[in-house]
Amino acid sequence: MKDIIHSKFTDLFGEGGVFYASAGRINLIGEHTDYNGGYVFPGAIDKGIMTEIKLNGTSKVRLFAIDRDEYAEFSLDEDILPGQHWPRYIYGVCRETAKRGGKVAGFDAVFAGDVPLGAGLSSSAALESCFAYAINDLMDNGLDLFTLARIGQSTEHNYCGVKCGIMDQFASCFGKAGQLIRLNCKTLEYQYFPFNPVGYKLVLLDTCVKHMLADSAYNKRRESCERAAAAIKQNHPEVDFLSDSKRVWLDEVRGKITEEDFIRAEYVIGEVQRVLDVCDALERGDYETVGELMYQTHFGLSRLYEVSCPELDFLARLARKMDVTGSRVMGGGFGGCTINLVKDELYDQFVAAASAKFREEFGHDLKVYDVVISDGARKL
Ligand code: GLA
Repeated sequence: MKDIIHSKFTDLFGEGGVFYASAGRINLIGEHTDYNGGYVFPGAIDKGIMTEIKLNGTSKVRLFAIDRDEYAEFSLDEDILPGQHWPRYIYGVCRETAKRGGKVAGFDAVFAGDVPLGAGLSSSAALESCFAYAINDLMDNGLDLFTLARIGQSTEHNYCGVKCGIMDQFASCFGKAGQLIRLNCKTLEYQYFPFNPVGYKLVLLDTCVKHMLADSAYNKRRESCERAAAAIKQNHPEVDFLSDSKRVWLDEVRGKITEEDFIRAEYVIGEVQRVLDVCDALERGDYETVGELMYQTHFGLSRLYEVSCPELDFLARLARKMDVTGSRVMGGGFGGCTINLVKDELYDQFVAAASAKFREEFGHDLKVYDVVISDGARKL
């Protein structure tokens, strides 16, 4: 990838570029908890975005995306949102850096990536973090990693229409090889956990489906949670986020909120606790419990939070039938991957059966990605 980027860069912009990279992410457990002030448990992966970039002495940003074979440019002087979708991520990062007091000058960049798009592996966070990190470094802005993650998150909110939480950009900025990170999204305290499950593998099965309107459905889930938290707060003023609520406090407001908001909140309160239970189980080396909790998350995401789809449910059900230790939809949902915790000796058989049965059922192939927990944003 580096060679391809470099050869295009020299063609378009000459010599003197510097390389930066960032990563997509997985999440072991803790889904849709980030914007509810709960815990998440992600790690960066060995698939990401790489760019060669240099300052160009103007106020223009000139970009080339290798994977799309497309050029785009925008000016830092004018507030004109780029027409194509992909440059908006970089446009947003420039604007959000400036809002936080960072300097931004014109630059030329060529980038490429190997995070599968729409698979729930946060290709957009990888792109944002890569450029947030690069600009911070090139301009000597000295913004800390949390600020860089916030720059990516605000880019999604303000320029891409997704009211996401902090998990993806956090993982992409803070990721370390071999380590998962448990983040408390309310206090922003975090802890690295070495992840090296002896006798098990983590594998992603990508349904290769991405449902339309996923972004607006995502935002609606968030609104449900905020309404439920506001109702609970009337009885319990200490509740700022759903993660602050006890399950019984949710029951108290059952008649006051819609049944839909109720079941969304029911899922979130359960999921916040499951992350803690998974961490305890990991410390005991109890992978069977970790897996069982993953199945519970899948059930919640499918039946209560309603962000699954037939393809994902099919894969999780098949995993259960084949005695796979744990399986669930990963990321925002509405398509994308399941994440599976599989015993070494079952791995080949499971992947082969899932691939064959999936094709039989849905008429197209799934994709298989082995999970390698890797470093996040960095200069190369
Ligand atoms: C998407 C969002 C994250 C998070 C997950 C669900 O990936 O970007 O902030 O909410 O969905 O856990």
